[in-house]
Amino acid sequence: MYTQGLDQAGKDRRVAAETEELLNAFQKRVDAEEKIEAKDWMPEAYRRTLIRQISQHAHSEIIGMQPEGNWLTRAPSLKRKAILLAKVQDEAGHGLYLYSAAETLGVSRDQMVADLLSGKAKYSSIFNYPTLSWADIGAIGWLVDGAAIMNQIPLCRCSYGPYARAMVRVCKEESFHQRQGFDIMHSLCLGTAAQKAMAQDALDRWWWPSLMMFGPNDSESTHSAQSMAWKIKRFSNDELRQKFVDVTVQQADFLGLSVPDDELRFDDETGHYQFGEINWQELFDVIAGNGPCNKQRLEKRQRAHTDGAWVREAAQAYASKQAARAAA
Ligand code: 3HC
Repeated sequence: MYTQGLDQAGKDRRVAAETEELLNAFQKRVDAEEKIEAKDWMPEAYRRTLIRQISQHAHSEIIGMQPEGNWLTRAPSLKRKAILLAKVQDEAGHGLYLYSAAETLGVSRDQMVADLLSGKAKYSSIFNYPTLSWADIGAIGWLVDGAAIMNQIPLCRCSYGPYARAMVRVCKEESFHQRQGFDIMHSLCLGTAAQKAMAQDALDRWWWPSLMMFGPNDSESTHSAQSMAWKIKRFSNDELRQKFVDVTVQQADFLGLSVPDDELRFDDETGHYQFGEINWQELFDVIAGNGPCNKQRLEKRQRAHTDGAWVREAAQAYASKQAARAAA
């Protein structure tokens, strides 16, 4: 496709020897809050970290369309359907901006997509859970998109310019997504007892997986310390998780729902909510490909890729024709 040349560019990239002088000058720029741009010198490990994180993020947006897409034909009203359709389209757009941001680092979209389809690449654990009721669409918007914005607003200040700039629009849209999810939950909570029970059931099932989205505890996080020194990440996994709990518990109270955690309590001394232990084994199992829907999600993506071959061919033919015309 258009970016095949980038695979070659990645292989041929002449990496200047990483002298102490270059590394110090790079860190100085990062510390001074200068943006690092695609053509700037950067340590190879910084480039690889960004490719890993941005491509995982892009894959999450693309796979994340599936659990919500499941309810497009069953949304309870035309208005809800139109909103959900727009939201799912937004997620596709986020995936595309992010693949483009990653391409600036010398990896091609074909390579990233191949890694996703072969199961080599990771994507967020959260999208491996099923959407069993309409309330799950509310819970995804409220909790999953809520957790996503908590993590992603600091990424607008990421040291790598193309990623930081892509995140600005993504965050604006995620903020709308969070509100539409909260609005669904709010309507259900104001409805019949059965509707409120459906909202509670969705919160019960999505609460813990949403906390897992932020990644392992700081002590178990392999990349956090270096990513924070490079100002790719501005807050650690645990700091972001705590911020999320602090705002979301109060929203649950407003809705009249109970957070499914017996150990949850507000600590006057710290000014934060204390919460129970996360089932880390569950997170590691899901990341390893053994969650409730991992197999289904990947198979669906592989099928969509095969079925979409004609679109890629048509786009390639059109681009070649345009290029030939421009050359003439
Ligand atoms: N799901 C899957 N893998 C996860 C994970 C999760 N929830 N949390 C951590 N991991 C993986 C990491 O990728 C890493 O594996 P790797 O070395 O093979 O790449 C390993 O577990 C150790 O974790 P670390 O904490 O050391 O990894 P990071 O420093 O990269 O932190 C992160 C993890 C917080 C997810 C970070 O990568 C990040 O902020 N990414 C950008 C945002 C993102 O990708 N969000 C995903 C959700 S997107 C979304 O929600 C879409 C929206 O529409 C709802």
